[in-house]
Amino acid sequence: MRQTSLSVSIWRGGQTGTFENYSVPCRDNQTVLDVVTYVQRHIDPTLSYRFACRVGMCGSCAMTVNGRPRWTCRTHVSRVNHGGTLEIAPLSNLPVIKDLATDMKPFFEKWQSSNHRNPVTTRSSRSGRTNQSALPPTPASSASIVASATPPAIRYGGTTII
Ligand code: FES
Repeated sequence: MRQTSLSVSIWRGGQTGTFENYSVPCRDNQTVLDVVTYVQRHIDPTLSYRFACRVGMCGSCAMTVNGRPRWTCRTHVSRVNHGGTLEIAPLSNLPVIKDLATDMKPFFEKWQSSNHRNPVTTRSSRSGRTNQSALPPTPASSASIVASATPPAIRYGGTTII
């Protein structure tokens, strides 16, 4: 029998807080970001979280899902739900501002201290030519600078985000 709803626990508060439970309808091809967005739009508009591109490029939607850091816009619920339950928390290695939104300042400070260098190699850089213009300083490339990204995973502060 097809599951019709998910039981979702979402962190509410700041550095201290508690998980609150929500029931969210199951949808085909539903991402974890879709679940968070459903809660914010239909159940509790005070829920805070962050996203931008929704296509797995910016990294702003990273959260901890069932204990593992993930880019929620490209994490399908079917991949991570354990018996119809999801636990969604902020990233554990950054200060929590509110709910699922973390303070990115430490992240950008490290990126700035790296002189905006991007360690990702391209065919042209391996051949000796530089191609910096092909790698604009977006948050995703920042993550790769700060954390030695190797798609589909990004490492930040000892944590791997997938
Ligand atoms: S919203 Fe940009 S990577 Fe998820």
